[in-house]
Parts: sequence; structure tokens; C-alpha cells
Amino acid sequence: MEINTLRPLHGAGRKLYVETYGCQMNVGDTEIVVAVMQREGYVHTERIDEADVILLNTCSIRDNAEQRIRGRLAELKRCRRERPGLVVGVIGCMAERLKEQLLEGAHGVDVVAGPDAYRDLPRLVRQAEAGGKGVNVLLSAEETYAGIAPVRLDRNGVSAFVSIMRGCDNYCAYCVVPYTRGRERSRDAATVVAEARSLFENGYREVTLLGQNVNSYRFGEVGFPDLVRRVAEISPLLRVRFATSHPKDMSDRLLDTMASMPNICRAIHLPAQSGSSSMLARMNRKYTRAWYLDRIAAIRQRMPDCAVTTDLIAGFSGETAEEHLETLSLMREVGYDFAYMFKYSERPGTFASKHLPDDVPEEIKSRRLSEIIALQNELGHRSNLRDVGREFEVLVEGTSKRDERQLSGRTSQNKVVVFDRGTHRVGDYVRVRITGCTAATLFGDPITEQGN
Ligand code: SAH
Ligand code: SF4
Ligand code: F3S
Repeated sequence: MEINTLRPLHGAGRKLYVETYGCQMNVGDTEIVVAVMQREGYVHTERIDEADVILLNTCSIRDNAEQRIRGRLAELKRCRRERPGLVVGVIGCMAERLKEQLLEGAHGVDVVAGPDAYRDLPRLVRQAEAGGKGVNVLLSAEETYAGIAPVRLDRNGVSAFVSIMRGCDNYCAYCVVPYTRGRERSRDAATVVAEARSLFENGYREVTLLGQNVNSYRFGEVGFPDLVRRVAEISPLLRVRFATSHPKDMSDRLLDTMASMPNICRAIHLPAQSGSSSMLARMNRKYTRAWYLDRIAAIRQRMPDCAVTTDLIAGFSGETAEEHLETLSLMREVGYDFAYMFKYSERPGTFASKHLPDDVPEEIKSRRLSEIIALQNELGHRSNLRDVGREFEVLVEGTSKRDERQLSGRTSQNKVVVFDRGTHRVGDYVRVRITGCTAATLFGDPITEQGN
């Protein structure tokens, strides 16, 4: 141990700033990156102006995600002119997709590291500090960052992400993720449970198990339902969530496990992408509209109070007016509580980019997306109105942004509730009766024991 502390750490007090784009997986990865760099003596900072090393953890999912990052790199060019010696790096999915190209040109950066290369970051940054460039975009079939304890950056101290698998083997025709994140691999169940337990012991009350397709998690004998159960068994006071589920792998066993444990949250994010079976076939989603609706029925039968949310894409290759209408009708039939809605963006290298022309005209794509959004606004508002008058257990996450005297937290269904602070604190479970809502938020009154 003495030897370790005496070893000259290369980072020795140098400051690291990381900006995170994209999905929750990237949020989790940034916490791993900070842990790796801290071991080398770097100190994490939230102030970009005092950073010696700036890393952008990037996303490639749609062209506009990449454009945003390019814009940011252009802004960072000024910082680099003013601060010689500053190291700027691109990590994550865009690093994996564009590789050495990111070193070239006006916005050229010093370091490029793909999602499986984070253990190598200290060496890459050292190379850049010595005036060179550091690149590692090797994908791995095994890396799960086991043994690296993520440095929690969220700071509410109540809810945390726990990555349980990496990569994706599904190859949906439109999607870049299998190319940027590599093969699907699951993390050792024992380390997942240990990490969740240590979070609970440190005051956390909610963990979200993360992966691109968590239902296909498998480590030895342990499948996803077993893993969720083992995490939920840590304590009835620990809420368990997970994302994302793929409809093709949404099993009755998982739903039975959820139904049997009240601390597994009543919320399922089940991306449909489209309501049309012909479209789903072109997308290579491996399920039909009927299959999807059967899974919804299976959820409702076991957990009538379970929230269902989704992702939808408007205007994918060859989408006809009828196919679009089927998406709208699916939305109505399911009555989604919430949805992420996107316009199709062709990604280089995907099956669709090679074989399915991006042929829906821009105005039609935009119009269809607007119709989807308008309908979802209506469905979401209706879903909130249904909750008025009901009681929910709310896990308090923080002070309301609008009013210091109010707290904000979430129901098991993952809806945000704002209510008067009283004597309650962050991390408490509070029973709240909903008294009103907007399209985005529920408002309520805490229920006192004797009052009922
Ligand atoms: N693994 C998850 C989601 C990953 S990406 C899943 O399979 O559900 C998040 C969402 O981005 C996807 O669900 C999809 O709706 C959307 N998306 C992915 N690629 C896209 C593209 N090329 N254009 C538009 N939206 C896309
Ligand atoms: Fe992309 Fe499909 Fe994998 Fe999700 S399941 S990450 S949409 S390829
Ligand atoms: Fe984006 Fe990569 Fe996530 S492409 S959505 S950051 S897996």
C-alpha cells in the first residue's frame, strides 16, 4: 500500500472536466472514466475554466446529436488557443464511429477513446500532454469495467445508475449502437448486487439497472429476472428500475417477478419504434404489432397500475401514410404515459444506410413527427389527470426547482410529484395524495398518519 501511495501519479492534481451527451449509458460511463482518471491522480472539476483536461463523452445516435458536439468542439477551439497545454478529447460513441478523423481538421482533438478503451485513458492523455495524440478505438468482447467503482457525480445521493451490460447484438436496421458499442456482454451478477448493496448502505434508495437490452442479460445461471430479484431483495426500501427493455425479450417471468415485489418499480420503458408490422420487419425489430400488444396485455394483467413509456421513430425508410397511421393507433391503444419521439436520421454504416433508402421527404417526416408529438401530449396529460385523487408513495429526490418550500420526488411509475416540504427530507418515502397536474408534473399533499 505504501508503495502505491509513493508511486508518482501522473495526473497529480491536474483537473479533469467531462461533459456528457447521449443516453444513460454514457452518464454511467462518465462515472467510470472519472474513477479511472482519479486513480492516476486527476481531480474531477465541474468548472471548465479551471480544467487541464476536457473530455466530451459523445453520442452518435442521430445526426443532430453529432452536430451539437461539433458545435461544442468549435467553441472549445478558443479555449485551446488561450490555454496552451490544455488537452481536449472526444470519447464515447462518436469517437468510436469517426476514429482518427477526429484528430484532423480545424477542430482536431488530442485524444480519441471508444467506449471499451477507458482503462487506457491515462496513457492516451499522457501521450497528448507530451505533445502527441492518443487514440484507442478497439472494441472488446469482454470489457465490463468490473472492479472499477464508479465515482457518483449525480449528487442527489438518492438514485444511481448501475450498468449491467454493454453493447448490443440486435442490429435494428436504423441504429448505430451495435457499431459504436460492440458486442453484447453481461457483467458478473455478484458485482452488480454488491454495487447496489453498497449504494443502499451509503444512503441511496433507488438503482436503475442499465443496458441497451436488459431483458437479454445473462451471466452464467443468472438471467435478468433473477438479477432484478436479487437486487430488489437487498432491502424493501431500495427501489429498482431498469432500462431499456426490448419487446421481443419481455418475458412473463420478468413480469411475474416484478408483480411479486413492490419495490421493483411499476414502470416499463418498452420502445415500440412503430405500430406497423411491415415497418417493424423493415426495421429488423423481430416482433409484430400483435406481439407488442400481447406484451402490453401481459403487463396490464399483472400490474394494472404499471406505467408504460416508449420510443417512436417517424419517417423511417419507405414509411407509408398507412404505416404512420398505425403508429398513431398503437399509441392510442396503449395509452402511453410518456414517449421519446424522433425523426428518422440515417446513420452511416447501418443496414438501412446501405439497403433502405432514406426516402420519406423532410416535410412529411416533420409533419408525422408533429402528429405523434401532439397525440402524445394529449395521452400524457390524460395519464396525469387519471392520477388526480389517487395516493402514491413518493421517493423524495430534491427541492423543487420553482419553490424552495417544496420538495420534488417520483412515484413508482416514475412521474414527478411536487408537494410541501413539511418535515420531510431528501431520501424519505412520503405518501402523497395527488391534487392537481400539468402535462409534465403532478402536485399533491402529503398524507399524515393520523389524518387517515
Ligand atoms: N436500446 C434501446 C434504445 C437505444 S437508442 C432500444 O432498443 O430500445 C434510443 C432510441 O433512439 C431508440 O429507441 C430509437 O427510437 C431512437 N433511434 C435510434 N436510432 C435512430 C435513428 N437512426 N434515427 C432516429 N431515431 C433513432
Ligand atoms: Fe439500437 Fe436496436 Fe440495439 Fe436498441 S436494440 S441499441 S435500437 S440496435
Ligand atoms: Fe448515443 Fe451511444 Fe447512447 S450513440 S444513445 S450515447 S449508446
